[in-house]
Amino acid sequence: MSKQSASTPKSGPKMIDPKKIKRIAVLTGGGDCPGLNAVIRGLVRAARIEHNWEVIGIQDGFDGLLDNLTIPLKAMDVRGLQARGGTILGTSNRGNPLHYPVKEGGHVYFKDVTDRIIANFNKLNLDVLVAVGGDGTMKIAQALFEKGIPVVGVPKTIDNDLGVTDVTFGYNSAVACATLALDRLHTTAESHHRILVLEVMGRDCGWIALEAGIAGGADVILIPEVPFDCNIICDHISARKKKGSRFSIVVVAEGAFPQGGRKIYEKEPGADGTPGRLGGIARWVADQISVLTSLETRVAVLGHLQRGGSPTTYDRILATRFGVEAARLIADGKYGDMVCLKGRQIKAADIKSAIKKLKRVNPEGQMVKTAEALGITMGRPQ
Ligand code: F6P
Repeated sequence: MSKQSASTPKSGPKMIDPKKIKRIAVLTGGGDCPGLNAVIRGLVRAARIEHNWEVIGIQDGFDGLLDNLTIPLKAMDVRGLQARGGTILGTSNRGNPLHYPVKEGGHVYFKDVTDRIIANFNKLNLDVLVAVGGDGTMKIAQALFEKGIPVVGVPKTIDNDLGVTDVTFGYNSAVACATLALDRLHTTAESHHRILVLEVMGRDCGWIALEAGIAGGADVILIPEVPFDCNIICDHISARKKKGSRFSIVVVAEGAFPQGGRKIYEKEPGADGTPGRLGGIARWVADQISVLTSLETRVAVLGHLQRGGSPTTYDRILATRFGVEAARLIADGKYGDMVCLKGRQIKAADIKSAIKKLKRVNPEGQMVKTAEALGITMGRPQ
């Protein structure tokens, strides 16, 4: 029995016969990342060529469904998009419709506005919604699915933290960018005998720092999954100096924190549940190193450079395959599912299982052990 027919028709997932589909919609939610446009192109081309569906682009994430901001997407509109960064649809990582800020009488309060989204979805005569995004977007997509919108998910994020899929698109491009930055920092560090500390993104996960650190030859890698000890870092840097390496490269994930300490925010999370903005740990680590070793330190914060620009070949292919397979999921009536990568195959999994738990680095896993076997310290005893 299909998922849809097994559910309660009143407020649960709605059944739509895939053979009757005429008009699908796509939106991109959360932070932008390389590969979003390649997904849109893959989806639109497969939808038009294989199924003859009309495709509507929803602008600015779920905001577009609240305010009826739409654009038609024909095959010509997506020409050459595989190479373009960002998203032609626009996106938003603020304003969650399940907890939406509404201003009334000079006060801001939060309200669930998903009913407005469902009403607009029906008014636009849409049959299926494809939501491309990270865990925040997938949580909203799951809620809309449970309220009756046939949804298919596509996993995106440079952080690579979404459950179920081995890899999210955008991650490879971010790692490539961070690796290139480390290569560049090496030359200055070596020439000036300095300690260079690079801060990379990743929110609560250390994937970017770990893989870029290994690829870029870092000496110290600090990730949220392994709280660090500054004395261990400094002993490692001093030992390197004694052996003749008068410079060191540290890569630190924005969510990393010292043992017994806390994460550093540029903007603290709000009491009303609004997410904070991480930032500042590289400066803190560099200051500790200067004080404890008297060596000259410098800081570089990679920031949004990691999210911008053209996707790598890997991300173009992964994103394109995700877009094409999302169309296949729709044709198979697999609403409530998300495309994902398992090994080298594109598969499908419940959105529900993808949002259950963040995919974090295993501190005892192969990748961390590889780093340590190379003589890189993670700031913990070995
Ligand atoms: O989730 C992607 C991400 O780039 C994180 O790595 C980072 O913490 C956050 O988004 C930054 O968000 P914003 O673009 O709102 O500053």
